Amino acid sequence: MSKTVQSCCCSTKEKTQKEKYDEIANVIELYKGKDGSLIQVLHLAQEIYGYLPLELQKFISQRMSIPLSKISGVISFYSFFSTAPRGKHTIRVCMGTACYVRGGKSIVEKLKEILGVEIGGTTEDGKFTFEIARCIGACGLAPAVMIDDVVYKQVNVNKLESILSKY
Ligand code: FES
Repeated sequence: MSKTVQSCCCSTKEKTQKEKYDEIANVIELYKGKDGSLIQVLHLAQEIYGYLPLELQKFISQRMSIPLSKISGVISFYSFFSTAPRGKHTIRVCMGTACYVRGGKSIVEKLKEILGVEIGGTTEDGKFTFEIARCIGACGLAPAVMIDDVVYKQVNVNKLESILSKY
């Protein structure tokens, strides 16, 4: 019988560091030794902890008996893994061809100015992580910006402040 791990996101109480590590240790026990288990464990660890700092990578390495270099390699290969704390919301500016030629670059520049961070960075207040994307499927109404799951189409630099004010 296969076991599944469920992590609950509805609790309003912030877990302590120890509770998070205990939860991750349980995940490791369930997945250890199974095919493809490292990716699963890293996914769940990121869900529980929020990101994958070096200390946590070492913990996973020891518990799973997998070299730290292999774990770091997997984390850096997949863009959905993050080694730094992420903002509450993720802004992705599309820099695919259609968006790029219709002003994507100036949107990126303006967002850098408004948010005060470079691409890949998180604002000081922890509200936004700023990234670029390769095409988010709205080419006909380019340029597009995605914030979490919401796609904003035909964006221009003058609309950015009002879009961000919704968050
Ligand atoms: S290139 Fe931007 S949505 Fe496709």
